[in-house]
Amino acid sequence: MTLNELADQASQRFAKAFGRPPRWIVAAPGRVNVIGEHTDYNDGFVLPMAIEFYTVMAADSGTGVSPVSSSKKSGQDARATTGKSTFLTIRDTLFKETAQFDVSKPVEKGEPKWSNYIRGVIAGFQWRGEKIPALDVLLHSTVPLGSGLSSSAALEVSTATLLETALGKKIDPVEKALLCQKAEHEYAGMPCGIMDQFVSVMGRKDHLLLLDCRSRQTELVPLNDPSVAVLIVNTNVKHELTGSEYPTRRRQCEAAAKILGVPSLRDATAAALEDAKGKLDPLVYRRARHVIGEIERTVHAAEGVRASNWPTVGQLMYASHRSLRDDYEVSCAELDAVVEIAEGIGVKGGVYGCRMTGGGFGGCCVALVKAEAVDAISKRIAADYRKQIGIEATIFVSRPAAGTTVIKG
Ligand code: GLA
Repeated sequence: MTLNELADQASQRFAKAFGRPPRWIVAAPGRVNVIGEHTDYNDGFVLPMAIEFYTVMAADSGTGVSPVSSSKKSGQDARATTGKSTFLTIRDTLFKETAQFDVSKPVEKGEPKWSNYIRGVIAGFQWRGEKIPALDVLLHSTVPLGSGLSSSAALEVSTATLLETALGKKIDPVEKALLCQKAEHEYAGMPCGIMDQFVSVMGRKDHLLLLDCRSRQTELVPLNDPSVAVLIVNTNVKHELTGSEYPTRRRQCEAAAKILGVPSLRDATAAALEDAKGKLDPLVYRRARHVIGEIERTVHAAEGVRASNWPTVGQLMYASHRSLRDDYEVSCAELDAVVEIAEGIGVKGGVYGCRMTGGGFGGCCVALVKAEAVDAISKRIAADYRKQIGIEATIFVSRPAAGTTVIKG
């Protein structure tokens, strides 16, 4: 579905829920990371792209009245009001739930859970001194949930874009991404890095985003060669380790940096790590080896993309996967199975490289493939994955997409 078709759908659903057409429509994309995993919170480099899957918000000034269609479950502070509203009402098309809260007061965490991403961003605008208007919002998303494609960043960034549009004010893109990251830290309890929010804000059609997570400088690296395609394979599994393991990895990286005497692992070299090997816990050593190697691989992969050197980029992706599997230990049997199948198909069959993408413990793999072989590769991965794992994978192609946009406003 194109973004315009999706926006039309959101517009119709808004009209159905709230009984009038929306005044504003905004969107923010999910992302896939081509390489540079678990490097963002180590001040390193990442190389993601926005994907053609979006969270769309259609909205109008708020009436404070609950939507026309009945809701399965309402937020704890949900209520219908009449007269001049100070409420923000969000109708979600996936869970068919409605969240409603008063934006004339500091917005706090609440129910339903997904509303916390939105609440956190609104609170961020309030901290900046903005007076948030009452809004009626219809939330419609095609970013698969819990699959490592950053549905949460898409939700945060679309909220920020909607608030900018409704307030008639633009905030600096870097500040906007950081505000969204803070929402995720403080309202969703996930101590994420800055990659997802940055690319959802700053992605560009037909480009990867090379982001230096220390200086926050970005470089758009063109990926518009029609002979290659980015294939995303969703394993359709999510192991519940993500939540607890992510902060543990962060702490292990900080411990390694401390022992190496550097501010972050960005400042460490492979040689310095080897010299200090005896002083490091073996597990912490392996975590650091992944991060230091991955930062280097990401810089090389960006060079490879600039030079259209696809076999080199592909090899770096495989090396990234091995390192995430063996040293960082964030992969799982299902992700490994996809990468092995892809490697078995090989360059002859059209696969340059493949790796797990995102936080890990399930979710998606990303593969760089020959465009002409997309169908054959997808069929083969689907069949072999089904045979080995016993469940269906979901496989799709995405060109690098644009970051957040205002469709109507
Ligand atoms: C999650 C986080 C990102 C990043 C990745 C791993 O997606 O949200 O900030 O750390 O994991 O690369």
